[in-house]
Amino acid sequence: MNTTPPMINFAQPCLDDATIQDVADVLRSNWITSGPRTVALEQALSTSFGGRPTRMLTSATAAMEVALDVCGIGPGDEVITSAQSFFSTMNMIVKVGARPVFVDCELASRNILLQQVETAITPQTKAIMPTHFPGALVDMDALLALAKKHGLRVIEDAALVQGSYWKDQAIGSFGDIATFSFHPNKNMTTIEGGAIVVNTEQEAKQVDILRFHGITRLADDTRDVVTAGGKFNLSDVSAAIGLRQLPQLDSFLQKRQSLVQRYFQNFPKIPGAVLPPNDMPRQSWNMFCVLFPFADLKTSRKELRDALRQHGIATGVSYEALHTTTLGRSLGYSEGQFPNAERIANETLTLPLHVNMTLEDVDRVCETVKTVLGL
Ligand SMILES: Cc1ncc(COP(=O)(O)O)c(C=O)c1O
Repeated sequence: MNTTPPMINFAQPCLDDATIQDVADVLRSNWITSGPRTVALEQALSTSFGGRPTRMLTSATAAMEVALDVCGIGPGDEVITSAQSFFSTMNMIVKVGARPVFVDCELASRNILLQQVETAITPQTKAIMPTHFPGALVDMDALLALAKKHGLRVIEDAALVQGSYWKDQAIGSFGDIATFSFHPNKNMTTIEGGAIVVNTEQEAKQVDILRFHGITRLADDTRDVVTAGGKFNLSDVSAAIGLRQLPQLDSFLQKRQSLVQRYFQNFPKIPGAVLPPNDMPRQSWNMFCVLFPFADLKTSRKELRDALRQHGIATGVSYEALHTTTLGRSLGYSEGQFPNAERIANETLTLPLHVNMTLEDVDRVCETVKTVLGL
C-alpha cells in the first residue's frame, strides 16, 4: 500500500470543463492564432483596468520589453529597479540596451525603497521599474509623485498582483504603464501570456507594431516595417482560456486570501522568521513567502526543501538577488551592496499556494514545517 500523502504542488492552475470545451471550439474553428478571442480578452481586461488601452502579449517578459521600447528607452539610458525581483526586469532592461540601476527593497514587503530610488536618479535616468509583491504594494502615491517630480516614466511590474487595489483603485487602472503575467502560477492564466496597459491609443498602436514584426499596413494593402519589432502576439487558444479565467478572478483571489489567512493563523512561531505584511485587505495573494533564519535553525534551505518534498510538499525560491547573478556581476555589481535583497535571496522560501488547495492542505504544510524543523 502506498502511504505517501498526495503531492501539494507549489502552484497549479484551475481550469474547468467549460474552458476545455472553449479551447476545443477554437481548435476546431480554423482560426487558432491571434483573432477575435484575443481582441475580446483585451477588451475585457481593459474594462477591469478602468477602460485604459490594454494589449495581450505572449508573456509579461515580452510586455516589459515592449513597455521599455514604447518609452523609447535604449543605449545610454538608465532604468532604476529593485535588486529583488524576477529575472525578467533586469533582463529586459539589458536587452533594450539600457543599464539597470539597482536599489534595495524593504525586508518584509520586498517592495523597492523609494528613498534609494530618489538618490539613484541621474541625468541618464529614464524610468523607474518597480515590482509589486503580494500582500503590500509599492506606495503608488509616493512613486508617481517622485516620477512626476523628475520627469520619469514608470513601468510597474504587476505580474504578481492582478486584482490588487491601491486605496480604491485597481492596479493597472491608473498610473503610467503596467505589465501583468498570466503564467499558470499567476492569479489567472492563459498558459503563457501577459498584458500591457498603456496611457493612450497611440501607445497601444505602438504596442501593436512592436509585438508583430514592426509591421504597418500600406494603402495598397502591402506591408512596411517601421521598426525591428518582435513576435509576441497571443494565440486565440490562450485567449479563450483567459476569457474563462477573468470572470473567475475574484473567486480565485478570495480562495487565495482564505488560504493565506490560514497560513498566518497556523504558521509555526519561529524566532527570527519574517512573514509578509498582512495589513492591507485589498491585496491579492499570488505567493506566500517566508524568510527562515536557517543559520539559527541549524539547517539549510536545500535541506528544508528536500525534506518537505519527501513529505509531498513542493516549494519555490522567489527570488534570487538580481545584482549577484552572473549578468548582474558583469554589470559591475557585487555582493554586499543591497543587504535586504541578499537576505531575502538567502532566506526566502515560497510555500504552496493555489486555488485547488484546501485549508487542510495549509495545515499540513504548517505541521510538516514544524516537524521537519524539530519545533
Ligand atoms: C515578478 C515577476 N515579474 C515578471 C515575471 C515574468 O512573467 P512571464 O513568465 O509572464 O514572462 C514573473 C514571472 O514569474 C514575475 O514573477
